[in-house]
Amino acid sequence: MILDRFKLNGKKALVTGAGRGIGRGLAQALAEAGADVAIVDLIAENAEKTAAEINRATGRRTIAVSCDISNAESVNAMVEKVIAEFGRLDIAVNNAGISIPIKGILDVSADEWKKQMDVNLNGTWNCLKAEAKVMIPNGYGKIINTGSICGHVIWPDPQLPYSVSKAAVIHMTRAAAAELIKHGIRVNCISPGVTKVADLFPEVVDVFFKTAPIDRFGSPADHQGAVVYLASEVSDFMVGQELVLDGGYTIM
Ligand SMILES: NC(=O)c1ccc[n+]([C@@H]2O[C@H](COP(=O)([O-])OP(=O)(O)OC[C@H]3O[C@@H](n4cnc5c(N)ncnc54)[C@H](O)[C@@H]3O)[C@@H](O)[C@H]2O)c1
Repeated sequence: MILDRFKLNGKKALVTGAGRGIGRGLAQALAEAGADVAIVDLIAENAEKTAAEINRATGRRTIAVSCDISNAESVNAMVEKVIAEFGRLDIAVNNAGISIPIKGILDVSADEWKKQMDVNLNGTWNCLKAEAKVMIPNGYGKIINTGSICGHVIWPDPQLPYSVSKAAVIHMTRAAAAELIKHGIRVNCISPGVTKVADLFPEVVDVFFKTAPIDRFGSPADHQGAVVYLASEVSDFMVGQELVLDGGYTIM
């Protein structure tokens, strides 16, 4: 039955940047669909809190793991901890990301450029590599990266480093998918449009509303179904693709 094929009962998952925001919503959705979930975040306190809340709400097993995705050693230790606790890894959602302040090319410092790339691009790479390593022996796995509409179209206010980092994540998704499908690992990504989270830059809201045909911005709940779909066997024929959830912003 089709709805049964969306179920994730018995699956073991991790979500990076799950202490709050979109990642928290994605982790909650995977747990509601039946998976045990590792809540991975730079801020240990948020990871602990979210893990406890999701466990209470869903009855699924959750663990909190503090990790800096920009540090390969930290990522390797995080994946080792997930394997030690859960026994294996079936689903990995690489959601953690940051955005440096919106500013023009001449005002972006070398440190800001490096920070942007270290987290969004190198961090996603560190996770992809560590996750693929433990999924390959299983002959199956689901890796879901997080792009952005800014990886497709150029935002009217200048944010070149963020856009480039997300375009690279989207292309990394395709290249990784082509290479890993022979091991049964499906790599895909979601690209959110403007989504209400605690630290959303207020200046992006007006820009979004000026173009998007929808009359609201997104919430973490708007991305939950896409991730359950990509994590489940229903999407097994989807390889290296992107689901854009943006209220239609990029069709205009
Ligand atoms: N909110 C939006 O409008 C929007 C739009 C498009 C794409 N995105 C992308 O969605 C993802 C989630 O964004 P969000 O809006 O929920 O942001 P958020 O700031 O609310 O949450 C991001 C989480 O990632 C964690 N994190 C940051 N750096 C980390 C690191 N080095 N290692 C581990 N964890 C780290 C943070 O502690 C935080 O809990 C990001 O990749 C972001 O670029 C967001």
